[in-house]
Amino acid sequence: MSHDAIRIEGLRKTYRGAKNEPAQEALKGIDLTVPRGSVFGLLGANGAGKSTLINILAGLVVKSAGRVEICGWDQDVNPRQSRAAIGVMPQELNLDPFFTPRGALEVQAGLYGVPKSERRSDAILEMVGLSDKAEAYARTLSGGMRRRLLLGKALVHSPSVLVLDEPTAGVDIELRKMLWENVRKLNQERGMTIILTTHYLEEAEEMCDEIAIMHQGAVVARDSTRNLLGQLDSKTMVIEPAEAVSTLPEVENLTAESRSDGTLALTYSASQLSADAVLEAVRAANIRIRDVRTEQADLEDVFLSLTRSGAA
Ligand SMILES: Nc1ncnc2c1ncn2[C@@H]1O[C@H](COP(=O)(O)OP(=O)(O)O)[C@@H](O)[C@H]1O
Ligand SMILES: [Mg+2]
Repeated sequence: MSHDAIRIEGLRKTYRGAKNEPAQEALKGIDLTVPRGSVFGLLGANGAGKSTLINILAGLVVKSAGRVEICGWDQDVNPRQSRAAIGVMPQELNLDPFFTPRGALEVQAGLYGVPKSERRSDAILEMVGLSDKAEAYARTLSGGMRRRLLLGKALVHSPSVLVLDEPTAGVDIELRKMLWENVRKLNQERGMTIILTTHYLEEAEEMCDEIAIMHQGAVVARDSTRNLLGQLDSKTMVIEPAEAVSTLPEVENLTAESRSDGTLALTYSASQLSADAVLEAVRAANIRIRDVRTEQADLEDVFLSLTRSGAA
């Protein structure tokens, strides 16, 4: 059995343009694997191609070329099995207003051929916090409740892979917390593989084991979150001097900057200079240190450095 939840090879998608509009090449040959049991983040600016990729996985968009395997099932060879292995919470709120939450879950279960005896609508409603709204019409639900219902719908057939497309865009803090608690639980207790896209980089940094960064239809980076964060060479040491600084340290591969709060920010290239050498330079400039801390690059820095210079 494949150890990958998802295997994507040479995936391309070109949307035919509307009248007089040029065709839109949304995916330009993507190769990507997602290991089983991981929480995988798909990051990228608007228009990068994240939703297109996810919708192809979900079988909602037809690819132009390439191969997609879900839990070892080739989407073209075994469409039924590959579809059953994945549940998707889409970016848009596409709910039928005439169904109640319980009704929507039952219909979805029917679509996936889940036998009546194996349906868990009540447990799912409970999990997403909609038990008391089980019989309310979808059109009467708040935006947050509709999102929770979409998560519930993605879970009716107990998929091995759960995909969430921008689940927390524009939702309040409480709902965001509830979503992440659920996602963590599904991952840790049931070993469900989670793939999510998010605009909030600090969220991806906190949630994801592995990350792929997309830019203009291509994957420009794919690594563990830890390695991605470690790949930026630039580090900053912030020094609180014991008295006002008169001379700044001058060393190659180091930029010193006095900040308005009285601290001294020393940005250096970690591959060229050790922390020890930075401290040495500080002492050589006759600066006495009252306190010191370091500032690490965060995902935002990595993201910007990759998509600015990025393979366009
Ligand atoms: N149904 C569609 N028809 C034509 N172009 C589309 C369609 N859906 C998306 N696109 C285009 O494909 C590109 C990728 O979009 P999308 O996959 O939605 O990116 P993301 O989710 O990363 O914001 C964009 O340029 C977008 O305009
Ligand atoms: Mg999108």
